[in-house]
Amino acid sequence: MLGKSKSYLLAGFLLGVLLSTGVFALCVRHVNSERQNNGTGMILKLGHSLDQQHPVHLALEHMAQRLQEKSAGSVELQIFPNGQLGSETECIEQLQRGALDMTKTSTAPLEGFLPEFAIFGVPYLFRDDAHAWQVYTGEIGNELLLKGSEVGLRGLCYLDAGARSFYTVKKPILTPNDLKGLKIRVQESQTAMEMVEALGGSPTPMSFGELYTGLQQGMVDGAENNPPSFYSNRHFEVCKHLSLDEHARVPDILLISEPVWKNLSPQVQQWVKESADEAAEFQRKLWQEKTAEVLQAVEQQGVTVHHPDKLPFAQRVKPMVDKLQETPIGSLIKRIQELP
Ligand code: GCU
Repeated sequence: MLGKSKSYLLAGFLLGVLLSTGVFALCVRHVNSERQNNGTGMILKLGHSLDQQHPVHLALEHMAQRLQEKSAGSVELQIFPNGQLGSETECIEQLQRGALDMTKTSTAPLEGFLPEFAIFGVPYLFRDDAHAWQVYTGEIGNELLLKGSEVGLRGLCYLDAGARSFYTVKKPILTPNDLKGLKIRVQESQTAMEMVEALGGSPTPMSFGELYTGLQQGMVDGAENNPPSFYSNRHFEVCKHLSLDEHARVPDILLISEPVWKNLSPQVQQWVKESADEAAEFQRKLWQEKTAEVLQAVEQQGVTVHHPDKLPFAQRVKPMVDKLQETPIGSLIKRIQELP
């Protein structure tokens, strides 16, 4: 049992903690609302994991410029690239708390927050670019953008992230059998883990920022990504084989914190949404051009670009996709497959 004076001390201490955290929360809210309601000089901070040369970063810069023009300089989008504000998962969590305004992330780690986003990781679901874009800009894509609000994450638009393919340090991946025994870095996504496992590899989740060192130090034997990311993060310096099996089309998505969004005036919301859509359009055009450019560039750097037959890969993951048809995302898979 505590003595009387000790109980007073403890009660005082608890009261102090409660008061200071309450006051702190009020201060944070005050600073946030001041920042967002002050017509002149509002700053929105955006964190992401890609390099400044990457076409997705260039699109975000385009958005910043459009937002500045539309708002006559009253809304500034400050971009923090290269994972400066944390990994993709960490940025998503900061958005939920309202501690960060915006992030650009791959949809892969989002499936840990909203299971429906697993749909984009389903291997060989999209027939081609046009089919994928039909989903991003159509009913399904829009439903998912808005669904994020349920967990504090409002989707603004998708950004092209092309198709993901394997790249390896030593031997090329020409058939699924070549993945046997190889440790392959995957994104923080259950679907990505299952896919690499189904293909016979050993999936190793790791943040994108840690991957270069992971490859260099032999923690993993390879990874998978789109050509612009393979190039801009210089993974080609370590991995001399890129095998364009194009197993999944996992788009990027631009998210704004729901608490932050609710605090913006309808006018600012409109400027933000319009500039995001314009950035997506700008980036869609840039993507094909940059992909072709970087494929040439990596070849010049000594990488062999392989074009394996995709059919054996698709056949190997078919049982996994069939199983997914029985899960809650089964109806989404069907809707996507049925699109003309
Ligand atoms: C893509 C995507 C990034 C992501 C990366 C990854 O390049 O654009 O947002 O970080 O994949 O594999 O983690």
